[in-house]
Amino acid sequence: MTSRIEEAINVLKMNDRGDYTVPTNRLYPYQWNWDSGFTALGLWHLDKNRAWLELASLLNAQWKDGMVPHIVFRQNDPDYFPGPGVWQTKTSPSTSGHSQPPVLASIVWEMVQMGGLDDSNKAREIFPDLLSYHRWFCEARDPKKSGVIGIIHPWESGRDNCPDWDIGLAGVDVPNNIGEYIRRDTVHVDSDQRPTGYQYDRFLTIVNFGRKVGWNHEIIYNDGPFLMADPGVQFIFLRATKDLLEMARYLGQDSTLHEIEDWVERFEAGSEWLWNEKVGGYCARDLRTGKFSNGLTNASMLSFYAGVGSVEQQNKSIDNCRRIMKACKFAMPSWDPQHPGFESHRYWRGPVWAIMNYMIARGLSDAEFEDLAFRVTSDTKSLIEENGMAEYFDPLAGKGLGGMNFSWTAAIYLDLCRDSLTRDSGGIVKRAIAHGVN
Ligand code: DGY
Repeated sequence: MTSRIEEAINVLKMNDRGDYTVPTNRLYPYQWNWDSGFTALGLWHLDKNRAWLELASLLNAQWKDGMVPHIVFRQNDPDYFPGPGVWQTKTSPSTSGHSQPPVLASIVWEMVQMGGLDDSNKAREIFPDLLSYHRWFCEARDPKKSGVIGIIHPWESGRDNCPDWDIGLAGVDVPNNIGEYIRRDTVHVDSDQRPTGYQYDRFLTIVNFGRKVGWNHEIIYNDGPFLMADPGVQFIFLRATKDLLEMARYLGQDSTLHEIEDWVERFEAGSEWLWNEKVGGYCARDLRTGKFSNGLTNASMLSFYAGVGSVEQQNKSIDNCRRIMKACKFAMPSWDPQHPGFESHRYWRGPVWAIMNYMIARGLSDAEFEDLAFRVTSDTKSLIEENGMAEYFDPLAGKGLGGMNFSWTAAIYLDLCRDSLTRDSGGIVKRAIAHGVN
């Protein structure tokens, strides 16, 4: 296990670009929003200042309206498509045009709870930015105050090609003149582990719409080609809002409490709209047609993390959770393995993701389903210990997939090993931090 800890430290060092960390070399050569959040958590166990710097550099790219974009383009790197020239957001630094699951406040709150006065002071400094990020989600992604977040691109969910988006993408008209483009992701990773060409055409069509309307989020929400509710973003946002509230109380930000309390109430109530009685769980849903996705995902299992659902709903979700775990060697797959759309190796259509497992296990433990939380955590550890720091893992065969030497997998592993890191009696970790291990 120690050698995996050394490897995880090395991965974070290798992917370190000074004040931000790339998810992995070449496949993802910029700074990604939720990647940086989870990476900061792992870094915190090694170097607290560097962890806070990771978050500060991300927030440095926050838009004037409060949005924290999903990618920050530090330079133009031909290894990635679509780069800044396609997005054309006209921001400085240049960024993509939408957001990503807002884990930031939850990560910050975790760092404050684990840390001391310095951490509280750092959190106090960025608290206004976190607050305006949440306010942006409330205004731009739920302008009708329904308590349901609408995502405008599958990339905003972070779960890019999940079958959840198939119904929304089917409604995206791809113009004949979409043009020739050259994907870079399939140069770095086997194409059967990545989204299909059909999906990429639609991903780009949505980006092109945003660019055409100057990234005006009112127009994009009302008239854009894609608008869906996502249990992932909904529950991550709700949990982060609850964490923001706890943090506001702890840091004495009294003037913000009412506003945040209202958000919690609004999005708790709105979450009910995502309950799909037919499948017995929370599902993605098209905001314009009301049509449900008909399968359960690892994001469905985040309802416990967000603390929503009646006892009856929780029991139904737990029955499904047990059934899915029984069907897989490793929990928690990103699509129901007993659903025909399941593909054990294709990105978000089956594989297991360490960051999702981190949040799912926390939620299950909060709801006192300790046996299930234990299973998710120990499966995460086994997958990483057997395969290293892969981007995602096959839930049946347990193989590492996608990009290798992946920052957020390394970060979650370090967090799972936090007790060993604290003890570090042999000084192996200290040496790895100081010199790297090759
Ligand atoms: C990609 O390029 O695959 C990313 O997930 C988009 O954010």
